[in-house]
Amino acid sequence: MQRFIINGGRRLRGELALQGSKNSSLPIMAASLLCCGECTLHSCPNLTDVYAASRILNCVGCKCTFSDNTAVINSVVIDKTSISEELMREMRSSIIFMGAMLGRAGECTVSVPGGCELGPRPIDMHISALRKMGIEIRESGGSIICKAPAGRAKGAKINLAFPSVGATENVILCAVTAEGETVINNAAREPEICDLCGFLRSCGADIAGEGESRVIIHGKHQLHSCEYTIMPDRIAGATYLSMAAAAKGELILTNACIPEMEPFLSVLEQTGCSIYTSDKKIYLRSGSRLSAIKDRIRTMPHPGFPTDAQAVLMAALAAADGTSVFEENIFDCRYRHTDALVKMGADIQVLGKVAVVKGREKLHGAKVEATDLRGGAAMVIAALCAEGTSEITKICHIDRGYENIEEAVRLLGGDIRRS
Ligand code: EPZ
Repeated sequence: MQRFIINGGRRLRGELALQGSKNSSLPIMAASLLCCGECTLHSCPNLTDVYAASRILNCVGCKCTFSDNTAVINSVVIDKTSISEELMREMRSSIIFMGAMLGRAGECTVSVPGGCELGPRPIDMHISALRKMGIEIRESGGSIICKAPAGRAKGAKINLAFPSVGATENVILCAVTAEGETVINNAAREPEICDLCGFLRSCGADIAGEGESRVIIHGKHQLHSCEYTIMPDRIAGATYLSMAAAAKGELILTNACIPEMEPFLSVLEQTGCSIYTSDKKIYLRSGSRLSAIKDRIRTMPHPGFPTDAQAVLMAALAAADGTSVFEENIFDCRYRHTDALVKMGADIQVLGKVAVVKGREKLHGAKVEATDLRGGAAMVIAALCAEGTSEITKICHIDRGYENIEEAVRLLGGDIRRS
């Protein structure tokens, strides 16, 4: 089991190019199943979740290769429509293969993705939306068996009870080759949904309205392959900016997606650090102690403050001047990192969906265990600005979403080692 050893207290300074987005790559890799050809995806991040998606593609008969951040996926032949429980459990977002397999083959057998570190992540909205599209779905011994009786899903009007990212993606993936028109009301508006639609449109899909609450899709008989570049990872961007802000640093982030990061940037700016944006660059300078954020930081679906950036900003605010208050509205168990931050000297009180963070003068090094992907990244940030040495175990969580995080930290002058 690998761990990070971090000696904190160094000022971070330098330039980083943002990796491609994990949360775009996964649905786009699934979408390549619909193309019956060879798709080339550039800027695909080198991450364990991306390898898990490749394994799923290979298991159903695709030929998927990956090198130098380029994935080449040949989906001409599909010889299986079931995905083993073992593969489904490797990555919780494997559920998006359900819509993609239905769109390609009109049937699939998957399993319920495993219990999750963010609390229960039900798939009721995915199932009821696909049922509305004429898919027969039954559960048997942990397997979910799905079939379009006519071999092809039927367009439908879907009203999502909540703008779920995964459910929106599954419906889009199933609808692009369904018969007729699908309308998704209360669709998720996350930038990664727009990236998925951008890819599908390059493959010939007819989609309108992505990025808004109503998405309209006219199904096509077949899509074709394409070459596509994945968007930059706005959450990795939020992580490195929080890190530099916390470590009184100076960062130039290149390959950044500025409009997509605006909900995060507008909050980070309130900590008093200087942020300038131009073209695809973000410049951040944080000379002195950060100020606490006055207004409650409420995580909300996009364009609200992203839940995925809650933990990393909290780590930065743990040593800010004053008290900041978070309200987590997306996931039930997204404060699991707080115990580790408290062990490092932070003063955080959690009550239900609210976390009150009283900024301390200093944090100190400690031995902690990464609880989940973004919580683990928050611990790296806290360790980098703490006094002394920290040890973070279970860093496999961090590797799911950050391409070589220790290399990035070292490039900025941080003292981190994997052992
Ligand atoms: C996606 O997860 C992201 N994952 C998450 O990123 C992100 O935190 C989340 O969207 C919200 O932005 C990927 O894109 C791979 P949801 P997803 O469906 O699709 C409830 C990260 O750190 N819900 O929008 O699983 C659900 O339980 C991660 O990179 C139902 O109740 O999120 C949750 O409370 C982790 N029933 C809320 O909706 C359903 O059928 C939002 O979930 C579906 C969801």
